[in-house]
Amino acid sequence: MTHIPNLTTRAARAGAHSPPGRALPLAPALHQTTVNTYPDLAALHRVLDGEEDGQVYYRFGHYNGQVLERAVADLEGAADAVATASGMAALTGVVLALVESGGHVVADRNAYGGTRHLLDVDLPRLGIETTLVDAADLAEVERALTRRTGLLLVEALTNPTVRVPDLPALVDLAAGFGTTVAVDATFASPALVRPLDHGADLVWHSVPKYLGGHSAAMGGVVAGDAGLVDLVRQSVVSLGATLGPFDAWMALLGLKTLPLRMRAHTQGAVAVAAFLAAHPAVAHVHHPSLPGHPHATTAARLYPEGTGGMLSFELAGGRPAVDDLIRRLGPAIPLSPSLADVATTLVHPATTTHRSLPPDELALLGVTEGLIRLSVGVEDPADLVAELGAALG
Ligand SMILES: Cc1ncc(COP(=O)(O)O)c(C=O)c1O
Repeated sequence: MTHIPNLTTRAARAGAHSPPGRALPLAPALHQTTVNTYPDLAALHRVLDGEEDGQVYYRFGHYNGQVLERAVADLEGAADAVATASGMAALTGVVLALVESGGHVVADRNAYGGTRHLLDVDLPRLGIETTLVDAADLAEVERALTRRTGLLLVEALTNPTVRVPDLPALVDLAAGFGTTVAVDATFASPALVRPLDHGADLVWHSVPKYLGGHSAAMGGVVAGDAGLVDLVRQSVVSLGATLGPFDAWMALLGLKTLPLRMRAHTQGAVAVAAFLAAHPAVAHVHHPSLPGHPHATTAARLYPEGTGGMLSFELAGGRPAVDDLIRRLGPAIPLSPSLADVATTLVHPATTTHRSLPPDELALLGVTEGLIRLSVGVEDPADLVAELGAALG
């Protein structure tokens, strides 16, 4: 007679080994499991030894992470990718994989505040020296690079003034010193620029921004050549910075509409930038679509489809005008200290993303008390212009 396990045993085994059925689901299945099972040791060893695809324990990599990694690698034109718990986990994985204690990193000073903290505070504690540069100034970058420089870190489009470093020129410079180039393309996404096509070695993203697009999925991802990505993956696994299956699953759903969203973000930002540039309450608008932008020509060359939804603008009335505008715009265009949602949001960089920087650094970056960064969503641009117009008075 077949043995029927008791209720406690059946509860413990509930749902294990449930095949999804003969028909494949259209949306990828969510494998929210931390571990997998194997029929025998030989089958487990084939996966551990890399002879067969498969998953063992989630921190080493899992099904939903691999689906996301393959999708991002494909969009970036990369051989491989590794998904990480956050954008900062991606950056930390890159640095720990590629730079030793006593090593040297050159980085754009116009980087995200968290990146600046890693460069300014954490890396020196590990004996890694950082030289900050303006990545749009090629002569300054060349002066900073040495034979000891393991990594050049730049952002494809910078925060908050949307500067546009010349990626192919930076790659050429770095090649002369044997320096690996890693590009944070969070503000651009592979729908607008693929840094690897311009010769960069690695590209990385904060997933909750454009890749995910709906402010729901956490994560980061690093893509590039298989050997480099493998080194980064080893760091990420040691750090325990693996992305969870549910976030990977949600990020993939967002990724499916990335090109459509980027087109709408770009159209909206161009319309809003033109409107703000003509408004008397606005002293200056930073957006590459405007003729006065210092990198308008580089942007037109590297971003034939436009630069996405990020722009910033300076209110003539300074900080009091910022407070007024935030109160008048909310909740239609809310204050929200992140970016790239399908809905338009704004942030005050001086007191949020860049709050840890001293006043002289803020001045160097053009982050003033009157500056607002707008992340233009996919709404009808006419509505955004009407709402901004009403709030600006
Ligand atoms: C341009 C950029 N890079 C990296 C990050 C860090 O990503 P995360 O917050 O996912 O760690 C952010 C976060 O806002 C960002 O804006």
